[in-house]
Amino acid sequence: PDRYAVAGNPVAHSQSPFIHAAFAAQTGQALVYERLLCPLDAFGPTVEAFAAAGGRGCNVTVPFKFEAFALARRHSPRAALAGAVNTLRFDSQGWWGDNTDGLGLVRDIEGNAGRPLAGRRVLLLGAGGASAGVLGSLIAGRPAELVLANRTLDKAAALVASHQAWAAEHGVRLATTTLDGCSGGFDILVNGTSASLAGAGVPVQGQVLRSGGLAVDMMYGAAARPFLDWAEAQGAEGRDGLGMLVEQAAEAFALWRGVRPETAPVLAALRAQLA
Ligand code: ATR
Repeated sequence: PDRYAVAGNPVAHSQSPFIHAAFAAQTGQALVYERLLCPLDAFGPTVEAFAAAGGRGCNVTVPFKFEAFALARRHSPRAALAGAVNTLRFDSQGWWGDNTDGLGLVRDIEGNAGRPLAGRRVLLLGAGGASAGVLGSLIAGRPAELVLANRTLDKAAALVASHQAWAAEHGVRLATTTLDGCSGGFDILVNGTSASLAGAGVPVQGQVLRSGGLAVDMMYGAAARPFLDWAEAQGAEGRDGLGMLVEQAAEAFALWRGVRPETAPVLAALRAQLA
């Protein structure tokens, strides 16, 4: 069977092998999906060795999404906009890099959580690889306004600059602020910082969300708990990153195999398993 893997550091706790095995069973595709732990200074060689040993593609996770972009010879338009790659396909014309994180996040917000982005005010926290991967897709959902808040303002400004034309094309007001400069009344907040991984909680002060708003973390499991508690204390709906994880995986699976799996049963099974 064809081989795929999730490449990252760490990867021991990645749920991607479970998700892709479930997709393969559901669609009758013959494939194996492994974990590929890459030394921090050897992402390229590790992935190249995997491809040489019969690997057909891989998902890329922390902290290699920018390196994966640099490694790919060709990119999808959305990966080019992000400057970051979460899905690689190995083929004879040179590796192809895509980014399915943004579409996965938007499918989770709009489809699974039932919250259309159009006309809404959206706050995205963080300006690293995670935020770069989703900003373009959030803009494509045509919110009225999208504010990118980051501890280091320069990084937010650089990300906004690279997305300004895309935002204008979609009629979206795109702005930056520092974390403590956020105003209130946002409908949807997305946490793309690694603050919860570090156990630092939610890096914004006070009442940034309107009551009844939606707060989404890209983390899941125990790391997302403080964020979900914070959302509840704000009178908002809290959502962890499990839905996004399954949705981005489904898009990667479709790119590799040409069949789109159903996500709902896999998300339910994953939640049951992690509960
Ligand atoms: P990733 O690829 O996961 O996005 P990254 O590129 O290192 O990782 O980016 C991490 C993001 O989380 C950055 O936006 C970072 O803020 P800075 O740009 O100011 O470094 C943010 N971040 C990490 N720890 C944080 C904390 N304790 N409080 C606020 N922001 C934090």
